[in-house]
Amino acid sequence: MEPLKLGVNIDHAATLRQARGVDYPDLAEIARLAERAGADGITIHLREDRRHIQDADVYRLRQTLTTRMNLEMANNPDIVRIALEVRPDEVCLVPERRQELTTEGGLDAAGQLETLRPTIRALSENGTHVSLFIAPDRKQLEAAAELGAPYVELHTGAYANASGDALKREIDALHEAAAYGATLGLRVNAGHGLTLGNVGALLDIPNLDTLNIGHSIVARALFVGMERAVSEMLAAMAR
Ligand code: PXP
Repeated sequence: MEPLKLGVNIDHAATLRQARGVDYPDLAEIARLAERAGADGITIHLREDRRHIQDADVYRLRQTLTTRMNLEMANNPDIVRIALEVRPDEVCLVPERRQELTTEGGLDAAGQLETLRPTIRALSENGTHVSLFIAPDRKQLEAAAELGAPYVELHTGAYANASGDALKREIDALHEAAAYGATLGLRVNAGHGLTLGNVGALLDIPNLDTLNIGHSIVARALFVGMERAVSEMLAAMAR
């Protein structure tokens, strides 16, 4: 089995920056630390409302990343134009609703074949691998295969939120979807809501390529970094 890869989503480092409208934390530096720690790629989501990642981040990170860039985006013509210019290694097409706190639910690829097809073709011809962020559902996997997307990313949000019997059902659904995706010739990633506490149950899913994980890593970084940050400030204040 190939080792499972980690894509680190740094959107919420940008959330911290945007909350104050300042120029720190520097996303290129955050990405560099993630890469130095062994991340296989860096994921960013350029949302239509630009709530965290900004257009300039996408262009700058394209120059500074030493691993793969995975750009998450809605199938929106303005953002597709940016992706065609920037040429990320991967684009993950996601559904987007303005008011949502995060990406809720997967893309209805089966219901949007005709609008997705030209976007997938344009990005693919431009050298970007396209992934579709879908629920672990046969119909959506079949649609991804029909569209010629080389990758899917299975939405693990329902798994992350489940408990009891529902948890087992969600794990089974992910297993089944990964296996079915492989039979359709798809490479299968997964992500959303994954934490140190819940990632373990996904490790024996066959054929998984990459896990994309963001929020919990950025939150955890506060715990492993807070003590040092306060010590540094105290040292700077020492007379
Ligand atoms: N994968 C996709 C397609 C996403 O939209 C997100 C959230 O931006 C993630 C993975 C990462 O989710 P989380 O931040 O909960 O780890």
